[in-house]
Amino acid sequence: MPILLKNIVKRYGKAEAQFSALNGISLKIEDGEMVAIMGQSGSGKSTLLNILGFIDQISEGEYYFNGENVSDLNPYELAEYRNTKIGFVFQYFALLNDYTVFENIELPLLKRKLSKKERKIIIEEFLNKFAIMDQRNKRPQAISGGQQQRTAIIRALVTNPSYILADEPTGALDKKTGESIMNLLKDINKTGKTIIVVTHDRNIASFCDRVINIEDGLISL
Ligand SMILES: Nc1ncnc2c1ncn2[C@@H]1O[C@H](COP(=O)(O)OP(=O)(O)OP(=O)(O)O)[C@@H](O)[C@H]1O
Ligand SMILES: [Mg+2]
Repeated sequence: MPILLKNIVKRYGKAEAQFSALNGISLKIEDGEMVAIMGQSGSGKSTLLNILGFIDQISEGEYYFNGENVSDLNPYELAEYRNTKIGFVFQYFALLNDYTVFENIELPLLKRKLSKKERKIIIEEFLNKFAIMDQRNKRPQAISGGQQQRTAIIRALVTNPSYILADEPTGALDKKTGESIMNLLKDINKTGKTIIVVTHDRNIASFCDRVINIEDGLISL
């Protein structure tokens, strides 16, 4: 399901207060790629990622997802794509503090027609694979940053999406933990999922097969 962007423009606000965050982005991302989006603060990285993940909408241009023009999708179809095709990972993990590790991971599965037992089997397989089985009954505040990000990555993966979109996934972690998270994402990429990582860290970007540089809302070389 390749991603194809043609001259994407994104403006925020209205009239005089309008600000153009993306100024004509064209790019193609093939299935199974692991891509970094790099650029300075304010260059438009998160804006681009949110557009790719159907969280935000374009002002101009064309976005083709799986050969389909995204502008032709209705809100219901957009939500369906977001919930089934995309897994999001964030800098500060975005875990719910009133829920345990297990419950945080379970949330996206509650929309599916699965029994409690089926959910447990899926979740425990991931907890074991990502070496946080022993943390499953703790709240996010009670585990380390790396463990929180692994929890968030599992939450993104349990619905078996084709894409993982990660916005500064190592930004709140020390160098070593950040690198271990990137190795994890690389392993996930090897299972056939397309991974797009936003970062301003060259070392983190070097874990990816390709780097897309953004400057003032435009791709630069
Ligand atoms: N909702 C919004 N309304 C108005 N302007 C916005 C909005 N979101 C982002 N912007 C502006 O668009 C530009 C790009 O923002 P974006 O968040 O994509 O940058 P970024 O590259 O992710 O930066 P950072 O590295 O700091 O996260 C910035 O100038 C920002 O102020
Ligand atoms: Mg950002």
